[in-house]
Amino acid sequence: DDADGRTRFEELIAADDRVEPSDWMPEAYRKTLVRQISQHAHSEVIGMQPEANWIGRAPSLKRKAILMAKVQDEAGHGLYLYSAAQTLGTDRDTMFEQLIAGSAKYSSIFNYLTPTWADMGSIGWLVDGAAICNQVPLCRASYGPYGRAMVRICKEESFHQRQGFEILLSLMAGTPEQRAMAQESVNRWYWPALMMFGPPDDESPNSQQSMAWNIKRLSNDGLRQRFIDMLVPQAEVLGVTLPDPDLRWNEERGHYDHGPLDWDEFHEVLAGRGQANAQRLERRRQAHEDGAWVREAARAYAERMAARREE
Ligand code: ACO
Repeated sequence: DDADGRTRFEELIAADDRVEPSDWMPEAYRKTLVRQISQHAHSEVIGMQPEANWIGRAPSLKRKAILMAKVQDEAGHGLYLYSAAQTLGTDRDTMFEQLIAGSAKYSSIFNYLTPTWADMGSIGWLVDGAAICNQVPLCRASYGPYGRAMVRICKEESFHQRQGFEILLSLMAGTPEQRAMAQESVNRWYWPALMMFGPPDDESPNSQQSMAWNIKRLSNDGLRQRFIDMLVPQAEVLGVTLPDPDLRWNEERGHYDHGPLDWDEFHEVLAGRGQANAQRLERRRQAHEDGAWVREAARAYAERMAARREE
């Protein structure tokens, strides 16, 4: 019964154990997990587009093969995450419909355009770097299927991060034009990547409860700081400048201080007015329609197999 279920749930959380699909859980816990996991799945799926833009134009066969593998990994991440969300009782069709209708959120970062090859480097280094920073603590999320999905995703994200770093490293060892292309790209991606961690802690409505439930382990600002501290030495290795004049080491805090983020821009992107929101959704909708024959064929095949079993 519910009273027993609630006690057991509270014990699991207090002991920092895992909650599994068959366990009783508060409706609000279920709801926030479906919210976060489905947004995360949508981000992976929409996140294929900015890079798919460069598959046909990658500068060598090797780069092309790597980029294709990476974009396929992202499709896979989306699928594990939709599966994890489904264990909470929301089916994939419903989540897909919400995405296509434009009523579901996905990460702000994927609404930025990728006009240059260096953007493949910046996405790997900064976007996937931020993703790992945010997702490693999620491997310990209290909800079992989510935490377990994150383990594999983080391993693949580490590879993605390194391949991006290596693209930038190659460009920085190249001609003045290539170096300028890398720097210009880092200038565009740096601030949006910092916004991936979400609004400041005092404007984050979900953080407190999600941390109490051991879904989130660290706050948005805490992770953002960790990421900045990690980037500074990496930027030095690359030889790129991070575009923040206020960035400097604070001996007392033991962290880098940084300049203010443009939260108006963040809210504009969330409201659908980023560089590519309309294009991303339109492309997703089109892909879904183009895939209708696959769903129909799968359904027809399943029906035929079921009929055969009845014979
Ligand atoms: N882009 C779009 N929406 C965002 C972003 C962002 N960068 N950051 C926060 N939001 C949304 C939240 O989803 C929430 O919306 P909702 O209440 O309508 O659902 C709202 O802004 C307020 O934010 P928070 O209260 O801080 O939300 P939350 O506690 O869920 O924290 C966070 C946001 C950090 C993104 C969290 O959901 C999370 O860790 N998600 C899993 C990781 C993820 O989704 N990564 C996707 C990008 S990485 C990749 O796919 C490669």
